[in-house]
Amino acid sequence: MYRTHTCGQLRAENDKSVVTLAGWVHRRRDHGPLIFIDLRDRYGLTQVVFDAANDAAVHAVASEARSEYVLRVTGTVRLRPSDAINADIATGAIEMVATSVEVLNTAKQSPLLINRDGNEEEPLRLKYRYLDLRRERMQRNLIMRHRFVKFIRDFLDAEQFIEIETPILTKSTPEGARDYLVASRVHAGEFFALPQSPQQMKQLLMVAGYDRYFQIARCFRDEDLRADRQPEFTQLDMEMSFVDMEDIIDVVERLFTAMVPAVVPHKRALTPFMRMSYDHAVERYGSDKPDLRYGLELVNLSDVLAGTQFQVIQNALSTGGTVKAICVPGIAGYSRKQIDELTDIAKQNGAKGLLWVAIPAEGGEVRSSFAKNVEPSEMQAILSATQAAAGDMVLIVADSYKVVTAVLDKLRRECANRLNLADPNVLAFAWIIDFPLVEWNEGENRWDAAHHPFTAPLDSDVGLMDTDPAAVRAKAYDLVLNGYEVASGSVRIHQRAVQQKLFDLLGISRETSELQFGHMLEAFEFGAPPHAGIAPGIDRIAMILADEQTIREVVAFPKTQQAQDLMMGAPSPVDERQLRDLHIKLR
Ligand code: AMO
Repeated sequence: MYRTHTCGQLRAENDKSVVTLAGWVHRRRDHGPLIFIDLRDRYGLTQVVFDAANDAAVHAVASEARSEYVLRVTGTVRLRPSDAINADIATGAIEMVATSVEVLNTAKQSPLLINRDGNEEEPLRLKYRYLDLRRERMQRNLIMRHRFVKFIRDFLDAEQFIEIETPILTKSTPEGARDYLVASRVHAGEFFALPQSPQQMKQLLMVAGYDRYFQIARCFRDEDLRADRQPEFTQLDMEMSFVDMEDIIDVVERLFTAMVPAVVPHKRALTPFMRMSYDHAVERYGSDKPDLRYGLELVNLSDVLAGTQFQVIQNALSTGGTVKAICVPGIAGYSRKQIDELTDIAKQNGAKGLLWVAIPAEGGEVRSSFAKNVEPSEMQAILSATQAAAGDMVLIVADSYKVVTAVLDKLRRECANRLNLADPNVLAFAWIIDFPLVEWNEGENRWDAAHHPFTAPLDSDVGLMDTDPAAVRAKAYDLVLNGYEVASGSVRIHQRAVQQKLFDLLGISRETSELQFGHMLEAFEFGAPPHAGIAPGIDRIAMILADEQTIREVVAFPKTQQAQDLMMGAPSPVDERQLRDLHIKLR
């Protein structure tokens, strides 16, 4: 046997046993004749004592050992003296006295301090990811992610779902991002696309009669990266037949509700999940993915300020815009500099400025950036509409609806962050429903699918597709968690005529739709059942469960924000020969 125990296994009851461990030198403390090494593997740490008085040769090896050397040590377990017990680690009651030791491998000085959660620049961590992954934080994240995915598989298996793999070399799917393409050697000038999601395949599986499908599916999208986006990421992709929106919501809600105590027992999900329309979410929180762990709701001031002479507000209202505010408790004493920071956020998000009014906590004159410009009665109306109290500051934005909501969303998140209003152990799931079916694309002068072009319109709104496309609501639903969109899905169109009608509305010509989606249209003519589905993002949810700020922390080998793999050095140039095989000439 290579080892008898792991480094996280030994307890007081193993006292006096002879054991063999293998692992990495986590920490070494040299007290001359006595050397202590904390030996580490992914299960934990064990303190090993090398005593020159017991065995000079064994002690000599330990004195040569350095951080991250790989050792195999045999020795006897003994109880630590009571003043040396370490309650912080599971093996803290014992130590092992080495009787033999073997250096399995040496290690160069590590560019990362494995025994500390260092604050190195991320590129260094990514270049030496295999060292970074030795750290406790990363191990915790990856193990949690494993449990999360295992829970999903077990849960869905028990609910009669079957996992089916779909191809990676496939045809472009209209998920809205740029495709990653793979050149075909066999068919000169032709390309596969990596799936942006298995959307079409899962619908075709419904046509094929596999009425409860899921897959832990890798998706690929060439889009601008952010903290919560990777060019390749993982979805829990699901689809069901003979169901409606409520059935999908029911399974997913039960899945995640049961997952929380099993995978992150220190967290608490708010159940039943909240539910609100898209319009309501944007109106109240400025966002279709609101963080619902705190209030700070947007208040509409357009009515109370309708008659004001104040130019800034007049201009916004007379051009069809709006005036909205949030009332933030406890920041009435903000300095000029702190207010400027909030104003900068407003400007970065498209506002011309930020109006504010503060009621001092200790009483006295109300401070405001615009008191001179409004009537006292208007100021009073603002304070009462926002229910501002002593110590509060009201932040007001007057602009187009789009700018006002976007800015107040950002300010709401910023203030909640500054005031620690969001409990990290609360999981505020919410369903956002009644999305628009299509959105007007200013740049391209056409309607785009708000979700994707397979999403069904509400039955009651089908007629509006011809007369008022913007008013058509979709049978689409998003799941939001703590301010992130973590899943998105819809009831699908399953009839050729309706699908064609939507393609027409999206300005996809008959010829193009036949070329790109002919297989879908045809499949709908071979007895396609009504079906619906959803795709929760595994990385995003894991990030939130792990209390991390980017999904890179829950992905073993992530790409940088510039879509590079710094460890492998990918992407990279390839041989001329390979290009020639693929009929590719670089320009
Ligand atoms: P959608 O495009 O909304 O829907 O994606 C579903 C979920 O996948 C996650 N996600 C991402 N995670 C990390 N990096 C990315 N670049 C990224 N893009 C998306 C998000 C998102 O909510 N086929 C449809 C689903 C369906 O209709 O069933 C789809 O892919 O958590």
